[in-house]
Amino acid sequence: MSRNLMMKKLQGKVAIVTGGASGIGETTGRVLAGHGARAVVIADIQSEKGRAVAESIGLERCSYVQCDVTDEEQVKAMIEWTAKTYGGLDIMVSNAGTVSSLPQTILDLDMSEYDRVMRVNARGMAACVKQAARKMVEMGTRGAIICTASTAAEKATEDLTDYVMSKRAVLGLMRSASLQLGPRGIRVNSVSPGLVLTPLVWKIGMVTQADSDKYMGPYTSLKGATLTAENVADAVAFLASDEAAFVTGVDLAVDCGAIAMPFHLSN
Ligand SMILES: NC(=O)c1ccc[n+]([C@@H]2O[C@H](COP(=O)([O-])OP(=O)(O)OC[C@H]3O[C@@H](n4cnc5c(N)ncnc54)[C@H](O)[C@@H]3O)[C@@H](O)[C@H]2O)c1
Repeated sequence: MSRNLMMKKLQGKVAIVTGGASGIGETTGRVLAGHGARAVVIADIQSEKGRAVAESIGLERCSYVQCDVTDEEQVKAMIEWTAKTYGGLDIMVSNAGTVSSLPQTILDLDMSEYDRVMRVNARGMAACVKQAARKMVEMGTRGAIICTASTAAEKATEDLTDYVMSKRAVLGLMRSASLQLGPRGIRVNSVSPGLVLTPLVWKIGMVTQADSDKYMGPYTSLKGATLTAENVADAVAFLASDEAAFVTGVDLAVDCGAIAMPFHLSN
């Protein structure tokens, strides 16, 4: 077997996953480690869970770093620590996100909740991409940045106005950053998951697969498919790897066809 075939696709890479203490981020940390990442940093506000996740990944070089993405200084410090401790930064998965627990229709938009959601999902995402890119440029690393957007960036929703706006902002950030960082060899892409059962969606009232099927069923073309955090993490690993060496400025939907569904539903 040739050397290339024996090598794992993220062999030797140093990765950060924000929002890595739970859900899609937690699984992404494991999947990146499984693909040979040399070090994985779980950056999150949930310290107990974050520490437990970092330990359970079982990689010698896996750490939890407490980091609130809405505080740019904390983001900068977390990235500095990672680069210093593990000798670089190759992959930044900017995944931390939140959703409002209130119905956020435009007629009743709660502006303090709006500010909270935008602060994490848009401003926090920008701070993470900015600081990761600065570190990659400083170190001359041809790195990969992957942002977690959502099918909500492309679809209207009944009552998640602020969340939809925040995820649309992620697409704008990803495309602008990809253009600006391309000349430096840094790739910036996003993944847009469909509905995956995590604590985030429990907040909006969907806690079982049946809830999810009822909600998403009419809006997907791949019938009978159950989307999992692993499916999203696999897409992140692809975008982080050299298999995607020529992919930048792209949003990869992992959504059972939700974004592609027509206006007139046939079922
Ligand atoms: N679950 C879904 O159906 C779905 C669909 C589309 C997109 N997404 C996106 O996927 C990402 C991960 O969500 P999830 O479903 O795994 O939810 P989750 O709630 O399980 O995980 C989100 C993580 O982000 C962390 N976080 C929240 N605010 C933070 C902050 N200020 N600083 C640092 N960490 C913070 C949380 O502590 C948590 O660990 C989010 O960006 C979310 O919007 C989720």
